[in-house]
Amino acid sequence: MIGRLNHVAIAVPDLEAAAAQYRDTLGAEVGPPQDEPDHGVTVVFITLPNTKIELLHPLGTDSPIRGFLDKNPAGGIHHMCYEVGDITAARDHLLAQGARVLGDGSPKIGAHGKPVLFLHPKDFNGCLLELEEA
Ligand code: CO
Repeated sequence: MIGRLNHVAIAVPDLEAAAAQYRDTLGAEVGPPQDEPDHGVTVVFITLPNTKIELLHPLGTDSPIRGFLDKNPAGGIHHMCYEVGDITAARDHLLAQGARVLGDGSPKIGAHGKPVLFLHPKDFNGCLLELEEA
């Protein structure tokens, strides 16, 4: 059911420093910061030949990644995103398998303008999973 790895998201305490490190130290193709007020994050996309990296930084006071950075002040891997062909069919399959979908269970438009869902990390080996319809 899942397809390509769409991105790995890393929560970072200093977005400018992290973007500069990927650009200058690692020599990656780094985009400009983008505010995503609906998701409470500012995102920098890094394009690699086979996938993307998303650097996430809290935006606003009730950002969903604020607690993660409080627990991991140096930053850390926040989630992985896998592509699926039909997100509603994927959700129905996962619910039937006993997995928990976060929120109200309906897909939301994600940072790339495509429908996304998040799956509970306790059901997936401690890893928060995002599914994106590709
Ligand atoms: Co993501």
